[in-house]
Amino acid sequence: MEEVAENFAPNIPNSEEVCYVCGAKIFRTAEFMGIKRTFKVMCKCMQKQQEEEKIRQENQERMRKIEKLKKLSLLGERYKNATFENSKTGTNSSFDRAFGRCRKYCELYEETIKNGYGIYLFGDKGVGKTHLTACMANELLSKCVPVLFTNLFEISKAVKSTFNRESNQTEQNLIERFANIEVLFFDDLGTEIFTNNSNDTWLQGLLFDLINKRYNCKKATIFSSNHSLNELINERGIAEKTVDRISEMASGAVIKIEGASLRNTPKTQIF
Ligand SMILES: Nc1ncnc2c1ncn2[C@@H]1O[C@H](COP(=O)(O)OP(=O)(O)OP(=O)(O)O)[C@@H](O)[C@H]1O
Ligand SMILES: [Mg+2]
Ligand SMILES: [Zn+2]
Repeated sequence: MEEVAENFAPNIPNSEEVCYVCGAKIFRTAEFMGIKRTFKVMCKCMQKQQEEEKIRQENQERMRKIEKLKKLSLLGERYKNATFENSKTGTNSSFDRAFGRCRKYCELYEETIKNGYGIYLFGDKGVGKTHLTACMANELLSKCVPVLFTNLFEISKAVKSTFNRESNQTEQNLIERFANIEVLFFDDLGTEIFTNNSNDTWLQGLLFDLINKRYNCKKATIFSSNHSLNELINERGIAEKTVDRISEMASGAVIKIEGASLRNTPKTQIF
């Protein structure tokens, strides 16, 4: 039978060509139904290169996602550079204990996140809850974990914006996105008091839906609040079934920070 490989692959300059790294032949000739064909094959180093390229692209995609989450997150100027390293410790033992646990959570992030462990941090205003959870969010972002730092007000604003006819997202679509974020930081839960008016009923439903979805999928959620879990029900009007799920999501890590507000500590006078 006549060799037809050249006709089949006229652009192949030299089918004897070898990889200049490992020396393996990069063209192979095979006979199929009496016709010989030459085709390019991948040597080990080409395969490795292709795998590396795939990983590079995946990382790039991850970084893009993280940059987007950073932009979406509510970590404003005050908290966006907060880290465990630059935090002040040593003045409030209650804060220090919480600090130690939150830091440990991040150290063990592969396990804690995979298992959907959550934290419920509560205490009076100014004790450092947002600061501490911001340290966690920044630490996890530095490890390329997709996190979103937000609060119920922002979530509801975003979901309401889908009611607009021009919105290219549906309500469920967006809730799904919040529900699927690897780690969701819920700052200041319980700031709003839920009554029985229809707007609050909607918000109550939204909160339940979101919490329930994350609960079902065992997604890690970190809460901060001025209120204990019981107060969320009894004083803030949050549905018991929602708080019940939050309680289980953060089981073992319902942490109270006591002490004085850090907001009143005098700053260095420069004027
Ligand atoms: N460990 C810390 N090191 C340095 N600054 C801190 C630390 N903890 C808190 N702060 C600063 O103290 C102030 C109050 O902290 P933060 O905003 O975290 O309080 P909070 O508990 O979230 O209060 P609220 O309940 O009112 O939201 C902020 O300016 C914050 O940057
Ligand atoms: Mg706060
Ligand atoms: Zn090779």
